[in-house]
Amino acid sequence: MTVTYRPLRWWDLSAARELERGLFPSDAWTVEQFWSELAQPSRTYVAAVEAERLVAYAGLSRVGTDADIQTVAVATDQQGRGLARTMLQHLLEGADAIGVTHTFLEVRADNVPALRLYASLGFEEISRRPRYYADGSDAVIMRRPRPQAGS
Ligand SMILES: CC(C)(COP(=O)(O)OP(=O)(O)OC[C@H]1O[C@@H](n2cnc3c(N)ncnc32)[C@H](O)[C@@H]1OP(=O)(O)O)[C@@H](O)C(=O)NCCC(=O)NCCS
Repeated sequence: MTVTYRPLRWWDLSAARELERGLFPSDAWTVEQFWSELAQPSRTYVAAVEAERLVAYAGLSRVGTDADIQTVAVATDQQGRGLARTMLQHLLEGADAIGVTHTFLEVRADNVPALRLYASLGFEEISRRPRYYADGSDAVIMRRPRPQAGS
């Protein structure tokens, strides 16, 4: 089946909430948090849909020349198919095109798949927040500079 990428919309939010509950059990966003995100013009959210099912989403916020990856989530049974890479490339290329020079994110230090994904997209660790998460895990702060023209 074919995956289609399009903006995340309000009618996706109950499905997004269900994905959140499975993927981030201790700090899943509520539907209200998603509404707040979609209401802000500084946010860009992409959805991956297959056979009318929301299978993944990712979001970016922009302030001036900086941006932050807000979230990346791929349904467990859809992981490893390149969905996260495709969504993030789309968001990063969009940010590059509108003048963002640095994109930041934070990720759990024990989230090996996410750390590898981000490194492969040009993110580098710049600092750590010890015991940042409720379960005592460290947060890794990563930054990606906009690629130089031609690189
Ligand atoms: C992390 C996550 C977003 C990756 O999504 P995905 O669609 O499976 O990732 P992709 O298929 O696009 O893989 C891209 C790269 O990620 C890395 N990666 C993905 N799964 C991996 C795994 N199980 N082990 C190691 N590296 C992995 C690899 O570098 C991979 O590149 P490659 O295929 O060329 O080796 C997904 O596992 C997920 O939703 N996890 C739960 C939520 C989460 O942790 N979100 C991030 C919070 S910061």
